[in-house]
Amino acid sequence: MDTITKPARAPGPDKGLPFLGQTLEVWRDMLGFFQRAANEYGNTVEFKFGPYVYVMVNEPEGIRHVLVDNHRNYKKSRNYDGLKLLLGEGLVTSEGDFWRRQRKLAQPAFHRERLAGFAVTMAAATKGMLERWERNVRGGSTVDVHGEMMRVTLDIVGQTLLSTPLDDEAHGIGEAMGVTLRYVNEYAVSLVRVPAWVPTPKNVRFARAAKTLDELVLAIIRQRRERPENAGTDLLSMFMAVRDEETREQMTDRQLKDEVMTMVTAGHETTANALSWTIYLLSKHPDVARRLHTEIADVLGPNGTPTLELLPKLTYCHAVLSESMRLFPPVWSFEREALADDVVSGFSIPKGAIVGIFPHILHRDPAHWPNPEGFDPDRFLSTSDRPRYAYLPFGAGPRTCIGNAFAMMEAQIILAMIVQHYRLELVPGASVIPEPVVTLRPLDGLPMKILPRVPVSASVARHAVALA
Ligand code: HEM
Repeated sequence: MDTITKPARAPGPDKGLPFLGQTLEVWRDMLGFFQRAANEYGNTVEFKFGPYVYVMVNEPEGIRHVLVDNHRNYKKSRNYDGLKLLLGEGLVTSEGDFWRRQRKLAQPAFHRERLAGFAVTMAAATKGMLERWERNVRGGSTVDVHGEMMRVTLDIVGQTLLSTPLDDEAHGIGEAMGVTLRYVNEYAVSLVRVPAWVPTPKNVRFARAAKTLDELVLAIIRQRRERPENAGTDLLSMFMAVRDEETREQMTDRQLKDEVMTMVTAGHETTANALSWTIYLLSKHPDVARRLHTEIADVLGPNGTPTLELLPKLTYCHAVLSESMRLFPPVWSFEREALADDVVSGFSIPKGAIVGIFPHILHRDPAHWPNPEGFDPDRFLSTSDRPRYAYLPFGAGPRTCIGNAFAMMEAQIILAMIVQHYRLELVPGASVIPEPVVTLRPLDGLPMKILPRVPVSASVARHAVALA
C-alpha cells in the first residue's frame, strides 16, 4: 500500500517563553529578528507567536504560489485589523466581492491616458516645493527632506485623485499619520489587544490622530457634495457616481471616507519613503549621484520640465529608484492568512497560519542579488535571469499595488527635478535609522543641507512663459 507522506513543517526557532513564543524578540528589533531567522533557517521559516503559527516565505516560487497561483486560498491577515481601524473597508483592507467591485471601479483613475495629465500636476507641485526651498535655503540651511517628500506627495495625491490641494494640511496630516501608523504596527504585533474603545493613553492618542484624518477626509467629501461642478473625472467623483448593480444604492459617506483615506495613506507615505531613501543613498554614493545628474542634464537640460514623453529617456533615474526600493522597500513586509491547509515551497501551511512576505529580506538574498548590500543601479539596466518574484516592491497578483505606474512616474519626476536643481548632503553626524512601521520610514526624518545647482526661479519663469 502506498504511504502518503505529509509535507514537513518549515524549520524555525522553537525556543521562547511558552505563552509569548518569539513575540518579545520581535518587539525589540523587528527587521533584525526576521533577517537573523532567514540567515539561520533559510527562506521559509516557521515561528510561534503566542498561540499563532507564522510562516515567513521568502522563496520566489513560494511567493508566486501564495500571491498568484493559489491566491484564492488567502486573505489579508488578521494582523491588518489595526489598519482596518484607520482604513475601514477601503481597497487595501477589504475582501471578496466588495473589494473586487471597488478595485474595478478605481482602476480607470490609474489608466495610462490619465497619467499624462497627472505628470503636469506632479511637475507643478515639485516646482512649488523647489521654489520654497530656494526661498528658504539660501546660505546652506538644512531641511527635513523626509518631511518635504511627505508634503509634496500628499499635495500630489490630493490634486490628482481628489482635485483638492492638501499642501496646507500637510503638517497636521504628517503628524497624525505617524501616530496612527505606529499604533497600527504595535496592534499587529501585540498578542493581547486592548480594544480601541478602552481609553488607554495609546488608544486616546490614536483616536485623536484618526479623528484629525477623518475630519479632513469628510470635509473633502462634503465640499464635493456641495459643489458637484468641481467633480470632473477624478477618483472621488468615480466613487461618488457609482451605483450598486442590484440595489442601485450609491456609496455611503462612510464607504467614501474609507476609500479616500486609503488612497491618501497608501498613495503618499510609500512614495515619500521611496524618495527619501533614494536621496539618502545618493548622498552616500556621489558617483551614482554624478551619473544621475549627467543623465538628467542631458535629457532635460538645466531648466526643462520632465513630461510623460521624456520619462522613458531617464533610464538611469528609473534604475536608481528601483535599486533604492530593493534596499529600502517602502512596504518592507506584507501578510496573508491561509483559509485552508496548503503546501508552500514544500512545507505545510496549516489553516489559519499567517504567511509573511518580506521584500526587505527577499531583496537582499545573495542567491538572486550579487553584492546584496551594495547600491548598484546598473543591475536594473541589463537583463538578468533573476526570478520574477525575487523583487516585489509593489507586491504581486490580484492585490498588487494599483498605484504602481503612478508612483514610479511621480518618483521619477520629483527626483529628476530635485537633482536637476540641487545637490543634497546629509547633515554631518545625523543618524538615519529605518523604522519598520507599516512602511519603512526614516525614524527621525532626514536632515539635509541643500546646495543649489541651477536657480529654480529661472526655470519657473521659463515654464510660465511657455504656458502663457
Ligand atoms: C513607491 C510607492 C509605493 C509602494 C512601494 C507601494 C507598495 C504597495 C504594495 C506592496 C502593495 C500590496 C500589499 C499587499 O499585497 O498586501 C500595495 C497595495 C496598494 N497600493 Fe501601493 N505602493 C506605492 C504607491 C502607491 C500609490 C501612489 C497609490 C495610490 C495613489 C497606492 C495605492 C495602493 C492601493 C489602493 C493598494 C491596495 C490594492 C488592492 O489590494 O487592491 N500605492 N502598494
